[in-house]
Amino acid sequence: MSSRTIPLNDGNTIPWLAFGTGTALYSKDATKATLAAISAGFVHLDGAQMYGNEETLGDAIVQSGVPRSSLFVTTKLAAVPDGRDVRFTLEESLRKLKTDYVDLFLIHNPKQHPDLKGTWKQLEALKEAGLTRSIGVSNFTVKHLETILEVATIKPAAIQNEYHPYVAKASKAVRAFAKEHNIVYVSYGGLTPVARFPNGPVTPALQRAAKRLTEQTGKQVTTGQVLQVWLRQQDIVAVRLSRYAPTASTSNKPERLQEYLDSQTIPDLTEEELKDIETEGAKVHHRVYMKWLDEESS
Ligand SMILES: NC(=O)c1ccc[n+]([C@@H]2O[C@H](COP(=O)([O-])OP(=O)(O)OC[C@H]3O[C@@H](n4cnc5c(N)ncnc54)[C@H](OP(=O)(O)O)[C@@H]3O)[C@@H](O)[C@H]2O)c1
Repeated sequence: MSSRTIPLNDGNTIPWLAFGTGTALYSKDATKATLAAISAGFVHLDGAQMYGNEETLGDAIVQSGVPRSSLFVTTKLAAVPDGRDVRFTLEESLRKLKTDYVDLFLIHNPKQHPDLKGTWKQLEALKEAGLTRSIGVSNFTVKHLETILEVATIKPAAIQNEYHPYVAKASKAVRAFAKEHNIVYVSYGGLTPVARFPNGPVTPALQRAAKRLTEQTGKQVTTGQVLQVWLRQQDIVAVRLSRYAPTASTSNKPERLQEYLDSQTIPDLTEEELKDIETEGAKVHHRVYMKWLDEESS
């Protein structure tokens, strides 16, 4: 199955579905999990300097045998060590990832960069130099975006923030700003309503849609897949993780990877279902990561 893609504002495209190497793989060897994801059909791999495992993501890229040009690799800038610059850190990432370029390089956390404008100008230079094809940001508020747009000659192509129905209401302003500037929204933590907060108000809405889609397609559609389709219909890229458990004979992880990939072709939700999920999600606020974003975006 070919991957769905979304156009970026710099002429490149981004695969809609990504495999993430943070969270449960943070500081761990991501080789096996990433190889499993690539062989299942993932082409977009989401890494970060802060995850401390770029070397193993690079090993998986090499071992997969998939041509580099068929993959889309993201990494994210951590704090820059004293006496170094952003270029130094990206060159180090490229060495670890065993590649000449990344497809997307994001500022991971604006809090780590007191001179945000200067940091952005360095990212622009790295795009010009061909070390990254596209540049963007993560965990940014409208204010952070406004700050870099004051000096930007290249706009961010993407913004990666936590996004699911329980933060959708709180993310309205930043999503609208991103849309206005043609910046693609990328979600992490998107499965929070099934994986971390399973009995919230949105659950029945997801179950209703899953039941309807199961009947329509004649194939089991899960509530997690409904969330994926909910993101897909809003043109939001979905970053997913599934841990690899080689010793658990009953592990459902390969099936879960397939479940994520299958959500590329599940039919759309109806207008009522989209509204239902939004309305129920807005009843509770539940942010998992970077809780400081709540204070700064209100
Ligand atoms: N930019 C940032 O600051 C930032 C922050 C956090 C994460 N990220 C990126 O986003 C990626 C994904 O993050 P995430 O972990 O938050 O992703 P997520 O997609 O919200 O959650 C994935 C987790 O949900 C579990 N899951 C999936 N389906 C489920 C179901 N039906 N029932 C119960 N659990 C289910 C998976 O479990 P199994 O592992 O058991 O399959 C997995 O651990 C990370 O790896 C990283 O690349 C970025």
